[in-house]
Amino acid sequence: EGRKRFLTGVKATGQIHLGNYFGAIKPMMELSQNIENEVILMCVDWHGLTNRSKILLPGELSHSIISLYLALGFNLKGNSIILQSDFPQIQENSWYLSCSTAAGLLERSHAYKDAIANGKEATAGLLYYPVLMASDIVTFDSQFIPVGKDQNQHLEYASDMAKLFNNLVETDVYLEAQGVIQETPTLIGTDGDRKMSKSYNNDIPIFAAKKEIEKKVKEIKTDSKGLDDPKDPNTCTIFQIFQSFASEEAISYMKERLEKGTGYGYGHAKKDFVDEHERVFGSFREKYDFYLNNKNTLKELLQPGYERAHKYADSVTERARMALGL
Ligand code: ADP
Ligand code: NA
Repeated sequence: EGRKRFLTGVKATGQIHLGNYFGAIKPMMELSQNIENEVILMCVDWHGLTNRSKILLPGELSHSIISLYLALGFNLKGNSIILQSDFPQIQENSWYLSCSTAAGLLERSHAYKDAIANGKEATAGLLYYPVLMASDIVTFDSQFIPVGKDQNQHLEYASDMAKLFNNLVETDVYLEAQGVIQETPTLIGTDGDRKMSKSYNNDIPIFAAKKEIEKKVKEIKTDSKGLDDPKDPNTCTIFQIFQSFASEEAISYMKERLEKGTGYGYGHAKKDFVDEHERVFGSFREKYDFYLNNKNTLKELLQPGYERAHKYADSVTERARMALGL
């Protein structure tokens, strides 16, 4: 079949905010809705082990990140969500890749060099991480990898390693995947100044109690325009953040009211913001809680995707073994 196969890795994290939703999650949902694409979304729990101090965390977090993606609308029809640690084929292929890769290549990787430069004790796992990532990609015959601008090095590594291996065994065992740079613009934070980020504490969570959302929305910086002044939506931080999640109707309503001004102040816009946030993410929250509490249902939903992914992984691994005479 002629569908394009995408692989994307997600790391389990804590609370998700509107910036994550807008910049990373929503584009992935849209990719999965397109029937010309086959999207394999892999929760990369093995990658989460490279930091020794957090080595005991990945299990529960993986379940919640999978629940989150499903609740937010990932389309499982023809696509899949898988957990990396359920695919031992990845470990096998990563060993084959590491045996055709020069150690020096790994020592030059950004993540490893940064850890050393910052005086951190880098684990062998961190050094080896680009190999594991290359193996994630080749193990499922992935063709396209959505990447942020900063992740290009690892992707180049992955195709270099695939090429090196293929040359060595003189067989096209592994596919060389292409990166697809995501052009998603950055969402601004409540300070109206920097990008929304947990580290700047200028974020608005997607799942939180209404009280917390209200408090965060109150913090959004505004200018000093009065209740009846016309306001420019393009410079209004409330509106900019609002656009990242609100429905078309809600967006054009707020735009009109701001431009006209009369009787619509920033306080009104903030109230509309909170209401729309509740409307959009309230139903997602219910689904999310359902998946969190019904592990077996979740497993059944994921099953067809698991079978497909196992078929790909077995076939790639078999090709590698054949080429190596194993
Ligand atoms: P944070 O900066 O809050 O720690 P992360 O670094 O964990 O967020 O980001 C996870 C994903 O969400 C990344 O793929 C990143 O591109 C996306 N993302 C994070 N913040 C924003 C933002 N303000 N605008 C657009 N995308 C974002
Ligand atoms: Na799809």
